[in-house]
Amino acid sequence: MEIFRTKSVEQSIRDTEEPEHQLKKRLSAIDLTVFGIGVIVGTGIFVLTGLVARNTAGPAVALSFVVAAIVCGLAALCYAEFASTIPVAGSAYTFSFATLGEFPAWIIGWDLMLEMALAGAVVAVGWSGYFNSLMTAAGVNLPALDLFGLAINYPAMVIVAILTVILALGIKLASRVNLVIVVVKVAVILLVIFAGLFFIDAANYTPFIPPAQATPAVAGLGAPLIQVLFGITPVAFGVIGILSGAAIVFFAYIGFDIVATAAEETINPQRDLPRGIIGSLAICTVLYIAVSMVVVGMQPYTQLSEDAPLADAFLAVGRPWIASLISIGAIAGLTTVVMILMLGQTRVLFAMCRDGLLPRVLSKVHPRFGTPARITVIVGVVTMVLSGFISLGALAELVNIGTLFAFVVVSLGVIILRKTHPELHRAFTVPFVPVLPLLAALSCLYLMLNLPVETWLRFLVWLAIGVVIYFLYGYRHSTVLRWRGTTPEKPAA
Ligand code: ALA
Repeated sequence: MEIFRTKSVEQSIRDTEEPEHQLKKRLSAIDLTVFGIGVIVGTGIFVLTGLVARNTAGPAVALSFVVAAIVCGLAALCYAEFASTIPVAGSAYTFSFATLGEFPAWIIGWDLMLEMALAGAVVAVGWSGYFNSLMTAAGVNLPALDLFGLAINYPAMVIVAILTVILALGIKLASRVNLVIVVVKVAVILLVIFAGLFFIDAANYTPFIPPAQATPAVAGLGAPLIQVLFGITPVAFGVIGILSGAAIVFFAYIGFDIVATAAEETINPQRDLPRGIIGSLAICTVLYIAVSMVVVGMQPYTQLSEDAPLADAFLAVGRPWIASLISIGAIAGLTTVVMILMLGQTRVLFAMCRDGLLPRVLSKVHPRFGTPARITVIVGVVTMVLSGFISLGALAELVNIGTLFAFVVVSLGVIILRKTHPELHRAFTVPFVPVLPLLAALSCLYLMLNLPVETWLRFLVWLAIGVVIYFLYGYRHSTVLRWRGTTPEKPAA
């Protein structure tokens, strides 16, 4: 069927050579790893650790981080294989175009907007929360601003605007800014680990896995899908608590996949993308497990703060200056998360426009900066509006479902591409195919089932909007259609 027309891997690679649509190749394996850490370490570790320890897993939150790391690690191997085979901007979108066809690829590209643009706005709102509290602590009270009675989160809008300019000016600039901030962020995380060691009270580790407690089943749309489908009610603590905690701290790992969106800007993508993807995930996993072990050792889990657990643990042991340093590190850290989420979004949209599924003129690369400047500005404005006007708390779970869905498709895509294109050169290969990619897909699906019904409904509505746009626009303008000579138009370049 037409809508399942695939784009050959060779064509994907040829597209990257069109002069007007060519990104500059400037990134090394180290740049990519630092990119990965820049986008991964953020709200997850700075906020969710306390929340999950307190309500869901107890001191065993560290094990929730291990479980989520295993799920992400399986998916990361699949991303690494794809990225080393098809080093083209667009990540999961491009991979799906080569394996499943145009329509599924469009759906994935559309779905990735939930991961990147929406998460960018969510984290920008979190950033402004930290920023406001730091300003208040410094004695500066930022005035509230509203438009027709609607509160405007202008600090979030300003930071998004600054990041948009940096992104438009060039990937190397963005990568330098990222490097500086990642150094600060990792230093703060190491500070938490090493300074925290002195305040650990072994008594806080018992019980390490608190006994399971039935929690009141959530009724209606707020209930997890697994409860509605199979009657499995959520349990806090115990082994099940560790698993439910994993579905939440999954957010902390989101971002390693975004490394793949920078494929075309990588000097030696086949070799370096797998290193960047797996390297950044491995480093963050070690940091997360260490931080969570230290933090639950510093305070009884029942007393951990839900908003700023790392900083507040140091307040609780009488070290306010360390707490302030951590807050500054969190602000710096969240800045690069927003920036790279936006970067990933621009690269996926760039690939979609270049393929004609969205207006092709948008994918013009700026002659001097070598970036898709038009798309960068559009993504910047949309993220600004989202972060400035909308309270996104409830939408954060949409980010998780959107990301997990892409992981499922990429994992299954590895199996499909091995069957349809066994001859392609794969610089990196996933071991134990098809078992390992199947495990990756199933474990992501399990985490998806733990998300509330309302998140599933919102997700389905978003996908339905995507389907309508595809049939109104993308289906007719796709460049794949042109290469096949099924329209009078000439093939592009
Ligand atoms: N992993 C990123 C964070 O935790 C999205 O903020």
